[in-house]
Amino acid sequence: MKTKAAVLRGVERDWEVVELELDPPKANEVLIRFVAAGLCHSDEHLRHGDIVPRFPVVGGHEGAGIVEAVGPGVTRVKEGDHVVCSFIPSCGRCRFCSTGQQNLCDLGATILEGCLTDGTFRFHGDGEDYGAMCMLGTFSQWSVVSEYSCVPVAADLPLEKAVLVGCGVPTGWGSSVYAAGVRPGDTVVIYGIGGIGINAVQGAKHAGATNIVAVDPLANKREKAEELGATHSAADAGEAQNLVLQLTNGVGADHAIVTVGVVDEDVVEAAFNVVRKGGDVTVTGLADPMKKTVHLSGGILTLFQKTVRGTLFGSANPIYDITKMLDLYRAGSLKLDELITRTYRLEEINQGYQDLLEGKNIRGVIIHEH
Ligand SMILES: NC(=O)c1ccc[n+]([C@@H]2O[C@H](COP(=O)([O-])OP(=O)(O)OC[C@H]3O[C@@H](n4cnc5c(N)ncnc54)[C@H](O)[C@@H]3O)[C@@H](O)[C@H]2O)c1
Ligand SMILES: [Zn+2]
Ligand SMILES: [Zn+2]
Repeated sequence: MKTKAAVLRGVERDWEVVELELDPPKANEVLIRFVAAGLCHSDEHLRHGDIVPRFPVVGGHEGAGIVEAVGPGVTRVKEGDHVVCSFIPSCGRCRFCSTGQQNLCDLGATILEGCLTDGTFRFHGDGEDYGAMCMLGTFSQWSVVSEYSCVPVAADLPLEKAVLVGCGVPTGWGSSVYAAGVRPGDTVVIYGIGGIGINAVQGAKHAGATNIVAVDPLANKREKAEELGATHSAADAGEAQNLVLQLTNGVGADHAIVTVGVVDEDVVEAAFNVVRKGGDVTVTGLADPMKKTVHLSGGILTLFQKTVRGTLFGSANPIYDITKMLDLYRAGSLKLDELITRTYRLEEINQGYQDLLEGKNIRGVIIHEH
């Protein structure tokens, strides 16, 4: 069948909306009609070249839609199911899935290659294979994805809101709750309030933190953070450092979480300095994997017994946590509607990423037309 998709052909090129040929699902794969796709900074990393995938690639790894056909052997979902896709598949069998770390599933090995689990591609155009970002390609009206990337969700939930629980919400919320392990009474500092950082704020609030300091140079981001649970905000790391020392009688924060768009050594060092003895830094934001972005004093690390960790998908388990995030949304204890600043048509995708880079959006969302 034919599908319209936003693709990248190389670094520093704009998104191009093109018509591609899409193969039917093979074994353990499903045809999905995407209703909505979130504009996460990770796809911008591919365009900008911070992280280089195999080109050409259909973008998008935050997506929600409806299963329209299933290939042989599919058991996790059936035709007609509403699903949110996880940007890391979970096979359920590998060492990591079987020990409660589905976010580290071995099937994630090809998320930048963009092929499906058998090593072949379902998108084609002009005799070329097109990969799919995170094996999803949610910037396409239709896609064929592994059943292991699909999490069925209740049909009465609005997919154009639920889409956010495919990446931004569990990644941010889990950064606070699972990776950092925020506890009641804690002081937490969150650097960078985009689609990820705003959910780290929501997670820290949910976990009972007393002080939640949101750091972002942009006033609109700080306002939104305060609306959704931040108790304080700061325009830069120096201001945050002074504020935290005041709030904690000079002790320092319990946790710092780095969710800026492009991580650099300055923000990691600021996070390292803001935490107390025995405190921890969680690095969720990404940067060029070839760049060394963690430059810290090993002496202070040891003597002050600090911890620096990375986290993928907020250290959450997609099958459990995607559903759980939606249960929290239904219960009113997690906000989704308030996170969507603007929606776009697929043809407006370059505008959407321009708005992300200019800091206009908490999250922009593409609503697909069929
Ligand atoms: N680890 C994971 O599993 C995972 C998953 C999804 C996204 N990410 C990464 O998380 C990061 C954030 O993604 P997003 O979609 O929220 O990005 P975004 O661009 O929407 O938001 C980033 C925010 O950081 C702010 N910022 C930039 N530099 C700053 C600094 N030095 N101090 C304070 N604030 C600063 C910007 O003003 C912006 O508001 C990206 O690097 C993305 O690739 C990681
Ligand atoms: Zn993402
Ligand atoms: Zn697995």
